[in-house]
Amino acid sequence: MTSIQSLLKTTRQQLATVSDSPQLDAELLLSHCLHKERSYLYAWGETEVEQAVQQQFNQLVEKRLSDYPIAYILGHKAFWSLDLIVTEAVLIPRPETELLVETALETIQTSKAPKILDLGTGSGAIALAIASERPDAIITASDYSNKALAIAQQNAKKNNFHNISFIQSDWFGQIPPQEFDLIVSNPPYIPSQDPHLKQGIRHEPLQALVSGETGLEAINNILNSALHYMHHRAWILIEHGYNQGDAVPLLMTEAGLQHSHCIKDYNKNNRLSMGRKG
Ligand SMILES: C[S@@+](CC[C@H](N)C(=O)[O-])C[C@H]1O[C@@H](n2cnc3c(N)ncnc32)[C@H](O)[C@@H]1O
Repeated sequence: MTSIQSLLKTTRQQLATVSDSPQLDAELLLSHCLHKERSYLYAWGETEVEQAVQQQFNQLVEKRLSDYPIAYILGHKAFWSLDLIVTEAVLIPRPETELLVETALETIQTSKAPKILDLGTGSGAIALAIASERPDAIITASDYSNKALAIAQQNAKKNNFHNISFIQSDWFGQIPPQEFDLIVSNPPYIPSQDPHLKQGIRHEPLQALVSGETGLEAINNILNSALHYMHHRAWILIEHGYNQGDAVPLLMTEAGLQHSHCIKDYNKNNRLSMGRKG
């Protein structure tokens, strides 16, 4: 049998070939197999790991070595203050998307019981993060994928949110006519020939990532109908690629939105654009 400490050391060296955070990955996988918190690994480093646990751990390490994302192996991912269930049916929520949540919360700061629409909700990350800060909000979360919606609904239940309704819809296609105070979306925005699609993200659902040859198809589609679903002075916020910071505000203006502008993330990359009705 091998101790926790030495198992972590060998695994860290192995995982360094595929991961930017090999120590963390090794700890997450081992604590998952031991059904313990990560702190247990430090307190009990000398403890021998049972054969059966080690076998399960080795299988997970093999999976990780094939570049399979850690969040899918563990089945969950932290986002905002929440722990979200994730499967291959949904995009793994990215920390960068928290900027969209922060900005969204600022736009509804003074509204009471704001009506919000999250288009392409995936795991429900954005809708749930907003719901966690604004229990008075009335949120609609939609996705084209029924499998993704099932995960988002599980996440709402797990986190005890009752102010989100879910609807299967091709963008605005099946959303009943109404006016929202805020529309948010992190749509697919990667061009179909982008070389990144051959790397780590290849395990994530293509319909969550790719949007036509230019990557702007979904954004265009959303913007073409958005005005009909917005109250006067409502904002729409759309996350996009770092190289789409000129194109998206322009598309917003062409769609009839005002005050269109792009916001940079903490690494100074163009990350999201917003525009207002009126
Ligand atoms: C980039 S993922 C974003 C997921 C989640 N909102 C997040 O930020 O982690 C894009 C989502 O849009 C959904 N989607 C793709 N095409 C769609 C369409 N035509 N109508 C509605 N949703 C769509 C995908 O299923 C996916 O869940």
